[in-house]
Amino acid sequence: MRGILRWLWRHRWRIGAGLIVLLVIDAVQMVLPWLVGRAIDDFARGHQDQAGRFAALILVTGLVMASLRFFWRYLLIGAARRIRRDLRSHIYAHLLRLEPAFYDAKPTGELMALATNDIDAVTQACGFGMLALFDALFLVAFTIVAMSLIAPELLFQALAPLPVLAAFVVIAGRRIHGRFEVVQERFAGLTERVREAIAGVRVVKGFAREREFAADFAVGSKDYLRANFSLIRLSASFDPVIAALSGVATVIVLWSGGRLAIDGTITIGGFVAFTTYLGMLTWPMMAIGWVINLLQRGSASMKRIEQVLDRAPGIVDAPDAVSFPREAGIACTALTFRYPQRRDVTGVHSSDEGRPALAGCAFDLNPGATLGIIGLTGSGKTTLAHLLLRLVDPPPGTLSIGGVDVRRIRLDELRRHAALVPQDPFLFALSIRDNIRFARPEATQDEVERAARLACIHDEIVGFPQGYDAMLGERGVTLSGGQRQRVAIARAVIGDPRLLVLDDCLSAVDAATEAAVIANLHGFLHERTAVVISHRIAAVQASDLILVFSHGTMVEQGVHVGLLASGGLYARLADLQRAEEAIGS
Ligand SMILES: Nc1ncnc2c1ncn2[C@@H]1O[C@H](COP(=O)(O)OP(=O)(O)O)[C@@H](O)[C@H]1O
Ligand SMILES: [Mg+2]
Repeated sequence: MRGILRWLWRHRWRIGAGLIVLLVIDAVQMVLPWLVGRAIDDFARGHQDQAGRFAALILVTGLVMASLRFFWRYLLIGAARRIRRDLRSHIYAHLLRLEPAFYDAKPTGELMALATNDIDAVTQACGFGMLALFDALFLVAFTIVAMSLIAPELLFQALAPLPVLAAFVVIAGRRIHGRFEVVQERFAGLTERVREAIAGVRVVKGFAREREFAADFAVGSKDYLRANFSLIRLSASFDPVIAALSGVATVIVLWSGGRLAIDGTITIGGFVAFTTYLGMLTWPMMAIGWVINLLQRGSASMKRIEQVLDRAPGIVDAPDAVSFPREAGIACTALTFRYPQRRDVTGVHSSDEGRPALAGCAFDLNPGATLGIIGLTGSGKTTLAHLLLRLVDPPPGTLSIGGVDVRRIRLDELRRHAALVPQDPFLFALSIRDNIRFARPEATQDEVERAARLACIHDEIVGFPQGYDAMLGERGVTLSGGQRQRVAIARAVIGDPRLLVLDDCLSAVDAATEAAVIANLHGFLHERTAVVISHRIAAVQASDLILVFSHGTMVEQGVHVGLLASGGLYARLADLQRAEEAIGS
């Protein structure tokens, strides 16, 4: 609830103005029953000359209320919409600041549910929830004052059922909170299932698992429905309970109030006005049930949202952060790295818990030199690349660029001057040109083409009917894995990085094209530092320093000739790949 109040506070002026208008409307509304009562008393005395005046007054009151209603809704609902916009942008911006490890542990579908359903629940609480809450409070206060002015002795009897109602509201309200949390959780789970099934639809189809997936989804849907029913059973009991209690109050008033009217303690008009005020209490009572519902839902959702908002970014600038060094040599000393343990939903740990992804890695690379890294899959190559770019944080003092610990380099500079071409690059649903100049949006067409030529993808791009304007993704062309990898290389080189990290990024390209790209890159890399990760000897053999990884440990390092001569893993891999090539050709 505190979270919601904080967001409301940001729009306090708008909300305050809306509440004042609401207060005026509710006060004006009180005049009507009083006018009607006065008119009846006049008629009872046999006068009718004032009828026109009463009618005119009633009309004016109605008009004032109607015109004010616009502002009241406009201000209060408008504030809720603004809160929704702010909250949505805030969550989005926050998500972009979180490091990749957060996304490894958090299902995307859950985040999507947060950004839709949970934000909606908060908006509802801030809009209609707030509105109905204050409307109800004002109306209750005003009608009670009006009723006590007419017949104070009748008021206490009329309000006798109130304590029962209060107890009900408190108990049921607390339960709604819990049940709504379950509903939102189930919804998040469903969203994630859909997202995953769509992302992996080819695999699902490839193994003919559509039916199982659909059945599994139906089970999830049923759970969601059940959670919803348990919530609805509770919230739906509000209205009947309140209607019953207000019926009881009416019976009491008719009974005792009728007596007072017959006695002449109150006038007939007063009696009518009193019962009208009592009738006017029914809505705020129902509204309170409704408000509790909305506020509980809103605060349950806000709690879920805050769990994400409170998650501080794990990788941030050091207080004494410095610029990216001019000379980007790399030094690595006694680097041992374990991925932080992740307790997944089932509470089961991954099997190789505790085994470091990298152990005792050490090397020194001169500025402008090329580092080759070779090793079987799972040997820690990608981990080293990610540590270098601080996509995960290396232990302090283990990895430095240009003599500066990577943890002390300003993040935006690190990511601008060190470019990573990942193994499985992600391209956006933009034109090919916009994808290439993603690293430098102001790049000219010439620069884009130069980068594409360097990555040996230019000829294929101009072969598309729309050339560089061809759209990628859902609305456009689908690139092959090898084409995507080369577009990603073009995207990395166009940013003019001082350090280029290629993570096995030619794995889907045929050997001839790979050789051509590598030859091109040699020219480009001239004064830049580069890390070339590959599982192919051909890609790394020209490197100034080659590291050989096996199961997270660096088993050899040296240059091509020396490594071949030493007859270790590198030499064995070279033999193997030569044999493969011989078969292939
Ligand atoms: N995000 C991650 N969280 C936990 N473990 C990971 C993560 N990424 C990789 N690993 C583990 O680290 C080890 C090395 O992986 P990786 O660096 O990707 O190897 P390579 O790139 O050589 O194939 C593997 O055992 C892998 O399971
Ligand atoms: Mg890898």
